Amino acid sequence: MADKDVDAHSGVETTGHAWDGIKELNNPLPRWWLIVFYISVVWSIAYWVLMPAWPGISGYTKGLRNHSERENVAEQITALEAARADDTRRLLEAPSMQAIENDPGLHQFAMAAGASLFGDNCATCHGAGGQGFKGYPNLNDDAWLWGGGLDDIRRTIAYGRRSDHPETTNTVMLAYGRDGILSRDQISDLTHYVLDLSRQEHDDAAAERAAPLFAQQCAACHGAAGTGDRTQGAPNLTDVIWLYGGDRASIYETLWNGRAGVMPAWEGRLSDEAILALSVYVHSLGGGE
Ligand code: HEC
Ligand code: HEC
Repeated sequence: MADKDVDAHSGVETTGHAWDGIKELNNPLPRWWLIVFYISVVWSIAYWVLMPAWPGISGYTKGLRNHSERENVAEQITALEAARADDTRRLLEAPSMQAIENDPGLHQFAMAAGASLFGDNCATCHGAGGQGFKGYPNLNDDAWLWGGGLDDIRRTIAYGRRSDHPETTNTVMLAYGRDGILSRDQISDLTHYVLDLSRQEHDDAAAERAAPLFAQQCAACHGAAGTGDRTQGAPNLTDVIWLYGGDRASIYETLWNGRAGVMPAWEGRLSDEAILALSVYVHSLGGGE
């Protein structure tokens, strides 16, 4: 070892390294820094021992505390399900749909579940707010094809309409023109009759000619006064609400080609409690009866 070299200016020993005549002083590290350094060394060793730390070939060291964020999340989900199980059971055991709406806690639970289920399963066809599109009914208004009571709505959702479910309803609007049931002129007259029913501009003579035809061909489903029949899903033709359009061309098109909108069945695809929650949610949208 060479002799100790002391810097003449500061009186501090040097490390012996020199660059272009500049020497490195051998000052000790600051005490605070050293303390923090030793604490981190101790901390890291404690951490390795207690917590998951070192990767291995097929896994990692689990640490004495056996901590796992993944398991924590799984536990929280189980706890949430357990907390919901109680509400779910009460929903399924409610004596009637009305009883669900009358119980504020249960109603709130059903509404929250229904809203999120609606967004996931129904909004694609009925719109995010249930406002509907041509051929896909608005669920916010008072006009119902199949009924707006809680049980009607539940039946529509569970079994669908014109769906593949054995309990579904299958009446359709016939294709009077395409299938050759009525002539072009008769369909044109009936179009004026429907325009008259809904108090729109029409040809009086044509509507009059069609009156007996309507009674004979249409009243069985739409009613003698054209106000519709919910057991057959036949819409009210006297109001301003149209599923397929109330202008002359749309009505003619309906009569010529028929209509058979399909509401899918959800029984078997969604749980019973999900269908109950959705029924309560749809019922609350504005037109519930
Ligand atoms: C693939 C498109 C589609 C999806 C998805 C769909 N629906 Fe429908 N829904 C329809 C059609 C079409 C009708 C109208 C059937 C008809 O013309 O009679 C309908 C009718 C209804 C009706 C009856 C309305 C009335 O006026 O009586 C309700 C209630 C309803 N749907 C609720 C729902 C709910 C709740 C969901 C989600 C679980 C849903 N629908 C998902 C297409 C759909
Ligand atoms: C077998 C029963 C049945 C008969 C008979 C029938 N309809 Fe319909 N009609 C329906 C059904 C069901 C719908 C709804 C179809 C749907 O939801 O997809 C409908 C829909 C309509 C619509 C569309 C309403 C809208 O809101 O867009 C018009 C218009 C209409 N029918 C007129 C008539 C006329 C006129 C006749 C007689 C020539 C007639 N229907 C005969 C069952 C019937």
